[in-house]
Amino acid sequence: MRLSFIGHAAVLIEGPKNVLIDPFFKNNPVAAMSYEKLPKIDFILATHDHFDHFGDAIEVAKRDQATLVAIHELATSAKVAESKVNAIGMNIGGTYEGEDIKISMTASLHSSSLGSPCGFVVEMNGGRVYHSGDTGFFSDIVLIPKLFGKLDAAFLPIAGHYVMDEKQAAMAVKALKPKLSIPIHYNTWPLISANPDLFAKLSKPHKVKILQPGESIEM
Ligand code: NI
Ligand code: MN
Repeated sequence: MRLSFIGHAAVLIEGPKNVLIDPFFKNNPVAAMSYEKLPKIDFILATHDHFDHFGDAIEVAKRDQATLVAIHELATSAKVAESKVNAIGMNIGGTYEGEDIKISMTASLHSSSLGSPCGFVVEMNGGRVYHSGDTGFFSDIVLIPKLFGKLDAAFLPIAGHYVMDEKQAAMAVKALKPKLSIPIHYNTWPLISANPDLFAKLSKPHKVKILQPGESIEM
């Protein structure tokens, strides 16, 4: 699997299927590219309906006839139905099993207009990646690897204000124990400025990899 940080909370996972989480390209000041430059996407995972996460989900789904995966109320909402994109609605605790991929929906502690916000665990080629979505710290986060299996990588927000700050995100790392953690959702706008090096320091001995928008790692 190849993991790319596109910027803000947008993450691309390339493997047997190409998975795009929280696509936010237009009006994203830190997006590494426009969505036209993406490879063909098979699944778009939206953690919730805030603009900085749902952003370009419908445009990319239309472009590639990709399947949108989201909480039931968002997947069945008027804006998704009118767009006629393929959508799979699910809910927290559930797992969608497709060819070469497993997508599980996890809890998060945040808000949204349609349904509950969530996170995702994506499993492909024997690798497992967690994207928490927007969330504050919650102690049940410790159960995610127990429920869905050991995590190879975790994308976690660190900016505070709307989500966990560096200290809370480091607490999440200690609970999740992923092989690698990658900070997201910071320094997009002045209001959400944060220090990824502080997050890395507080997460020790667990490993943190700070990816700049546009950077990738192979797993
Ligand atoms: Ni949000
Ligand atoms: Mn957000």
